[in-house]
Amino acid sequence: MGLFSFTQELAMDLGTANTIIISNGKVVVDQPSMVALDRRSEKVIAIGEIARKMHGKAHENIKTVRPLRDGVIADFYAAEQMIRGMIKMINPKNRLFSPSLRIVVCIPSGCTEVEMRAVRDSAEHAGGRDVYMVYEPMAAAVGIGLDVEAPEGNMIVDIGGGTTEIAVISLGGIVANKSIRVAGDDLTEDIREYMRRQHNIKVGERTAEAIKINVGSALTFLDNPPEDYIVHGPNQMTALPMEVPVSYQEIAHCMEKSISKMEAAILSALEHTPPELYADIVRNGIYLAGGGALMRGLDKRLTDKMNIKFHVAEDPLHAVAKGTGIALKNIDKFSFLMR
Ligand SMILES: Nc1ncnc2c1ncn2[C@@H]1O[C@H](COP(=O)(O)OP(=O)(O)OP(=O)(O)O)[C@@H](O)[C@H]1O
Ligand SMILES: [Mg+2]
Repeated sequence: MGLFSFTQELAMDLGTANTIIISNGKVVVDQPSMVALDRRSEKVIAIGEIARKMHGKAHENIKTVRPLRDGVIADFYAAEQMIRGMIKMINPKNRLFSPSLRIVVCIPSGCTEVEMRAVRDSAEHAGGRDVYMVYEPMAAAVGIGLDVEAPEGNMIVDIGGGTTEIAVISLGGIVANKSIRVAGDDLTEDIREYMRRQHNIKVGERTAEAIKINVGSALTFLDNPPEDYIVHGPNQMTALPMEVPVSYQEIAHCMEKSISKMEAAILSALEHTPPELYADIVRNGIYLAGGGALMRGLDKRLTDKMNIKFHVAEDPLHAVAKGTGIALKNIDKFSFLMR
């Protein structure tokens, strides 16, 4: 084996919250975008899920870092280490040869030249020989199975951890896009703040996210309501343990402001859509992708509010990565998407 040189092809969705790598149409890495580093030597201690488990629990010699913020690389060194480590997870045993890597990475549509350069450099430093880039909403559209080359307007709303990106695509390009830095992580922060203020209980990021996933809702009335979620934590004042049941209704209230901002961004994108494409969007509906698309009641809320049907993409957490994988496999057909 070591005598052959071959090319390994990887599609990577480098997200603020999660990094997903697809190889030969299969998800081979699906890990939180997190690195644990030795504070003094900067040596990598753990990557992905293991680093996340350390988050909020490490002693002073270990720091846990999220290399991306708002969809773009914020810590260059940590990003490179993370990419390198995740690629290593795919072929841990092959020490005799390292395949030459062709990597397609997706980038937010509002990404600047400098931010794009940072992604390319990180992927190259991590061993990528040919590095291509694809805009995330394009990748999501391909992943959802839309005909991105058709003279037909489609709107994609991708609610990730750091950004909510809205794009109208037609004829293989992005016609209009709007990106706001209000997304899943802000909802988690809203919940932390609410638990502290309303219930006098301190909760960390992971607990707040668990509350969001278990009882998060975009509507204050649901047909199939989830059961109250029991939260454990210290009382703010006394530091004694507390147990608080939380209902979906109160969580819907505390996230209301942030969800309204997402709604306003979608409305603004619609406002800036040329009329012919607007008509297509009303006919086709709007596609929701990213982890935020899983929020209970969100599709119904938006559908009722805008009178346009919102569809949640199948497996929204993987839609962008899946589309990137398809673009990579058909690189000639989709070369117009590559940067
Ligand atoms: N069931 C769920 N209900 C609500 N939110 C969820 C659910 N599952 C995951 N999320 C949220 O989705 C977000 C992560 O989504 P995703 O993996 O699409 O983001 P990302 O691609 O890493 O971020 P970005 O695209 O902003 O760089 C997190 O904020 C997470 O809490
Ligand atoms: Mg994303």
